[in-house]
Amino acid sequence: PETHYHEFVVQATPVKRLCKTHNTITVNGQFPGPTLEVRNGDTLVIRVINRARYNVTIHWHGVRQLRTAWADGPEYVTQCPIQPGGSYTYRFTIQDQEGTLWWHAHSSWLRATVYGALIIYPRLGSSYPFTKPKRETPVLLGEWWDDNPIDVIRRATRTGAAPNVSDAYTINGQPGDLYNCSSQDTVIIPVDSGETNLLRVINAALNQELFLAIGNHQLTVVAADASYKKPFTTSVLMLGPGQTTDVLITANQPPGRYYIAARAYQSAQGAAFDNTTTTAILEYKSAPCPKKGLTLQPVFPSLPAYNDTTTATAFAAKFRSPSKVDIPTDIDENLFFTVGLGLFNCPPGFSQSRCQGPNGTRFTASMNNVSLVLPSSFSILQAYQQGVPGVYTTDFPPVPPVQFDYTGNVSRALWQPISGTKLYKLKYGSKVQLVLQDTSIVTAENHPIHIHGYDFYIIAEGFGNFNPQTDTAKFNLVDPPMRNTVAVPVNGWAVIRFVADNPGVWLMHCHLDVHITWGLAMAFLVENGEGELQSLQSPPADLPPC
Ligand code: C2O
Repeated sequence: PETHYHEFVVQATPVKRLCKTHNTITVNGQFPGPTLEVRNGDTLVIRVINRARYNVTIHWHGVRQLRTAWADGPEYVTQCPIQPGGSYTYRFTIQDQEGTLWWHAHSSWLRATVYGALIIYPRLGSSYPFTKPKRETPVLLGEWWDDNPIDVIRRATRTGAAPNVSDAYTINGQPGDLYNCSSQDTVIIPVDSGETNLLRVINAALNQELFLAIGNHQLTVVAADASYKKPFTTSVLMLGPGQTTDVLITANQPPGRYYIAARAYQSAQGAAFDNTTTTAILEYKSAPCPKKGLTLQPVFPSLPAYNDTTTATAFAAKFRSPSKVDIPTDIDENLFFTVGLGLFNCPPGFSQSRCQGPNGTRFTASMNNVSLVLPSSFSILQAYQQGVPGVYTTDFPPVPPVQFDYTGNVSRALWQPISGTKLYKLKYGSKVQLVLQDTSIVTAENHPIHIHGYDFYIIAEGFGNFNPQTDTAKFNLVDPPMRNTVAVPVNGWAVIRFVADNPGVWLMHCHLDVHITWGLAMAFLVENGEGELQSLQSPPADLPPC
């Protein structure tokens, strides 16, 4: 195994999109940021230097970080942010993960522009469980505001209203030809004619689940979230923010150019969203050059309607592990968490300008009616490790405080959560089953739920209220897919299982950033096991102070 050293300088860089230049926060002046390429088993040492005027942290999305929670990155959870002028070195080893992950800022809305691909090749001497592709290309889907994203969320936080939706989606940082001033810069992705090529699709968008399709081409899914999957063929992908999907594409069509297009899957009814379409061009290489003057018109794919939940759900249902897997049984922790929005009523005398959500409220969101508030003078992990009292409590409820018809017409009394820094404590090695249940409070919505420090098996998904008597019949305990982010269906539920074998404090949240801002998050506190190999390592000396 190798050790890779990198330096990430976080800095403001002028970036021109949609006819206007914005001073954009980037890594090393690149947007999207640098692609990291490693092999399974390698170690990464990345020194992050903050030359921007915002606090920043970097999260290595999907990396298990076994015993190295200090390198995970979410601000005020595993570390205090790197302040302007400061630096911090992230050190971690990739352990038994192969495929595509990514990295992104985990501070306010900086990840809108601070993100990049993390590609994990098989160990030296081993190979892919599929035909070796001729070419491999990362396809990063993003979201662009014709504004400073930090200002967008700050304004929304001040007023309590929903933030402005984005002005464009992007593929590898470019909106593509359907947007103003963008066609010259449309990204071209080369494929070799007649060959099989690998696209590593990453949804790095801030707040939007996305459909993606390619004109005239079928896609064969072979991996997702850095674990291999039983291959299946599809004409459309749906990725929630945080998810990655590796697809093989065989260039078996007449040599030419084909559109890659992505647009919103929007499950929340009546909510504003960016209804534009981003494009890139798939271009056949080693094809006979067209005669001068002859332009090859790219072929456009058909994309599902923005509200096509049937297609989104059918796609998720196709994922399987490549073979029978070892699913945790004899569950120690049977958890049931609601995920959904809420509204805070503004107390009398509270400034009206701060209550511009629906009917003079402020938007909020919660799990089991607890809206997460992060500490500001400690990270939770430091407080735990040093035994600092008063930073968090460990009374996160294992089941909702009251049961109700989650996807029905929820009584207004249940719309207002409580705020707190509540953790759920797990013993080392405990076997966890977690039902994630969407609610229809304010609006039902598909929530891409991500757990830090863990991969988990998705053993079932469905619509309506999860029924513990009958829905267990739907459990796949043979070959369920392993993921780090699960799209909990709108007005529905998902059941996941994992073994708590990684000590530390691990954030679990909706990967729609506006929902994190509103508190749709909680954290697990996983205790050390016996001996050094089951315990969290000691903190690095350069851990940033708060
Ligand atoms: Cu990719 Cu906490 O997130």
